[in-house]
Amino acid sequence: MSAPLLSVTGAVKRFGGVQALRGVDFDLRAGEIHALLGENGAGKSTLMNLLSGVYTPDEGTIQIDGRQVALNNPREAQAAGIATIFQELDLVPTLDVAANLFLGRELMRPGGFLDVPAMRSEARKRLEAIELAIDPARLVADLSIGQRQVVAIVKALSYASRVLIMDEPTAALTVAEVERLFDVMRKLAASGVGIVYISHRLEEVPRIAG
Ligand SMILES: Nc1ncnc2c1ncn2[C@@H]1O[C@H](COP(=O)(O)OP(=O)(O)O)[C@@H](O)[C@H]1O
Ligand SMILES: [Mg+2]
Repeated sequence: MSAPLLSVTGAVKRFGGVQALRGVDFDLRAGEIHALLGENGAGKSTLMNLLSGVYTPDEGTIQIDGRQVALNNPREAQAAGIATIFQELDLVPTLDVAANLFLGRELMRPGGFLDVPAMRSEARKRLEAIELAIDPARLVADLSIGQRQVVAIVKALSYASRVLIMDEPTAALTVAEVERLFDVMRKLAASGVGIVYISHRLEEVPRIAG
């Protein structure tokens, strides 16, 4: 059998006297939705921060495709193909959807002008790829929380990510938005993305990671 997409072995993380993680092991395979459950304070966000390069583990290893990786900062995690959706979405509300998707790597026309039509057309393609009809010209401020979350996911995955980690993504969502999000997650998994889904809502797990 091939190596898992992502493999965490013996991860330990302490904050002063607090041992937030004491030897965590898990494997994630391509196309799998892996639920990470635990009550508040269990160390879920700490583990996510290790995988996104925000913290480094005191002990233990992280492997991608069977090769050990050092994730010393968020850029290295991104380069390793790990995308993270934090509870605080890193979108700019005063910009439109397309501008958010291309923030920091804008498409340009000769002469140094932004190529807005090209960015909107590419944004529309990416949203339609997960069957999401959001107008790329809409301001993020005018979207629902659920729509913003999906835009953040599309943005995260546009960095050629193969692992998507979501920390309590349903906390601020309506019931219909949760369904919509689960639908998006299932489509992504079917396309080969591995998803780590962090929640303290036990009742959600059979619905998404069953
Ligand atoms: N930056 C930090 N400094 C000190 N203690 C922390 C820090 N981050 C988390 N902790 C502690 O580590 C434990 C696990 O926290 P956390 O990973 O946020 O749990 P969860 O996300 O499961 O609620 C808690 O006891 C928390 O207080
Ligand atoms: Mg947390």
